[in-house]
Amino acid sequence: MNPGDNAIALIGFMGAGKSAVGRELSRRIGWPRHDTDEMIREQFGISIPDIFTRHGEPAFREAETALLKTLRRGIAGIVVTGGGIILRTENVQLLRGMGRIVWLDAEEGVLWQRVSKHSTRPLLQTPDPRARFAELFRDRVPLYQSAADYRINTNSNSIVKVTDEIIALI
Ligand code: S3P
Repeated sequence: MNPGDNAIALIGFMGAGKSAVGRELSRRIGWPRHDTDEMIREQFGISIPDIFTRHGEPAFREAETALLKTLRRGIAGIVVTGGGIILRTENVQLLRGMGRIVWLDAEEGVLWQRVSKHSTRPLLQTPDPRARFAELFRDRVPLYQSAADYRINTNSNSIVKVTDEIIALI
């Protein structure tokens, strides 16, 4: 496994553990990590919730696609994505062009348990966040399914175990 041979993109719903697993995977295999949320945050100089509030979700989605286009050039490493990256077919094609796509999946209730502990997710700032969560989950699962080369269950909550599974695949 040499950097430059390929890239691994981590996709999945909020709370799937993409950032934590991306960090662990990068540490274990020595590939650089490109976290789209982190990079967009740096680009705007404000938090993701503030980007949504001040610039709107469409500006955030544009930034995601623009970033993937820059990453595509000479990409090597682990691409950690935001949960909504699969909403645009173009994004999925860009990720495919970089390498293999790994879907970190878990049961909806497990994801909600993790996510509801932190209230900063902009898409959940609604009167009924649990219902919104369920709706987004239902709409997105088929998109993750069709984008993914591999699906890994993260119900166990073990970052190390999930990372082991990814390493076994590559
Ligand atoms: C989003 C998920 C977030 C972040 C933004 C939008 C989404 O990332 O990109 O708030 O549409 O599901 P996480 O998946 O890391 O929570």
